[in-house]
Amino acid sequence: MDPCELSPSYVRSIAPYQPGKPISELAREMGLDEASIVKLASNENPLGIGPRTRAAIDAALSEVNRYPDGNGYELKLALSKRYGVDLSSIVLGNGSNDVLELAALAFLGPGRAAVMSEHAFAVYPLATQARGARSIVVPAKSYGHDLEAMAKAIDEETYVVWVANPNNPTGTLAGPQALEAFVRRVPERVLVVIDEAYNEYLAPELRAETVKWLKRHPNLIVTRTFSKAYGLAGLRVGYALAHASVADVMNRVRQPFNVNSVALAAAQAALNDMEFVARSFANNLQGMRQIEEGVRALGLEFIPSHGNFITVRVAAGGRSAAEIYKRLLRRGVIVRPVGGYGLPEHLRVTVGTAQENERFLQALAPSLKE
Ligand SMILES: Cc1ncc(COP(=O)(O)O)c(C=O)c1O
Repeated sequence: MDPCELSPSYVRSIAPYQPGKPISELAREMGLDEASIVKLASNENPLGIGPRTRAAIDAALSEVNRYPDGNGYELKLALSKRYGVDLSSIVLGNGSNDVLELAALAFLGPGRAAVMSEHAFAVYPLATQARGARSIVVPAKSYGHDLEAMAKAIDEETYVVWVANPNNPTGTLAGPQALEAFVRRVPERVLVVIDEAYNEYLAPELRAETVKWLKRHPNLIVTRTFSKAYGLAGLRVGYALAHASVADVMNRVRQPFNVNSVALAAAQAALNDMEFVARSFANNLQGMRQIEEGVRALGLEFIPSHGNFITVRVAAGGRSAAEIYKRLLRRGVIVRPVGGYGLPEHLRVTVGTAQENERFLQALAPSLKE
């Protein structure tokens, strides 16, 4: 007997998450110099981190022989001041991925269901299925969440609705009014997880006041991350803001030391480095325009994006997105195929520095003709 059969069938049938190809792997495979490779595949921050965050990391290194503060008190205090929420309403995670998993762990299980959109972030079906719960996938509307249809899809077994705003990989956004109307419409017995991993890249007028809604909606969970605009993807820190009793059950199912001490210190410093976040925002805005203009000039369509990435339709006239992806790899440029998201004709490109974006565009032009 294959010992994997000892695992429940709903676990065995999970399709593994496909991360972006690491630079070192492509360098090995193609015999390329790592320094010559551009990676625009994982929606990372191309600017690195700010000097204050670096200093906090250096200081924290001298304490790595100690366990971290399992409650993350200092970081929670900083978040509570920033967002005007009580410490008891905060759940810290090893990336916001962890926090999404905690929501699934706390509220899903066999016989329960979660509603999500077609083309939505891959972790929602993964986390749902890993709990033995059923995924109710609602067809997208113009690549984005069809909130009307999602509200209608909620059935008596539904305990969670996953909403990515903006969504990855489509970059689509539900506006503040439509989102609030949706939250009002969802019955209180169903948790609404609004995943705002890319919130800091939104123009201020497009940001929904989801944190304020928490007071009116005890069934709301808002998740955010330090991986994107704060530049800490490798350290893994994210958080959820929720009603205290929702946060309490999520905290009960997490590992006691799920966020490491270096990450806690870095996140606290990064949260207050507003200048770095402003720079990241500005770089993203400029880079987005640069890529939009570049791909438009090549005659390609793209899905207008509110994130730090853009999904471009590269397949046409017999050329497949998978083939273009490989041709880009041969030119030392790593982007992300999104066939697994039901978008077999598209590639997702993270906005990099101006030079990285240019490298991508320079590599894309011949890859389309080859
Ligand atoms: C929509 C969305 N949510 C959550 C995450 C998780 O990010 P992290 O675990 O690094 O916080 C990502 C990462 O790409 C994302 O795109």
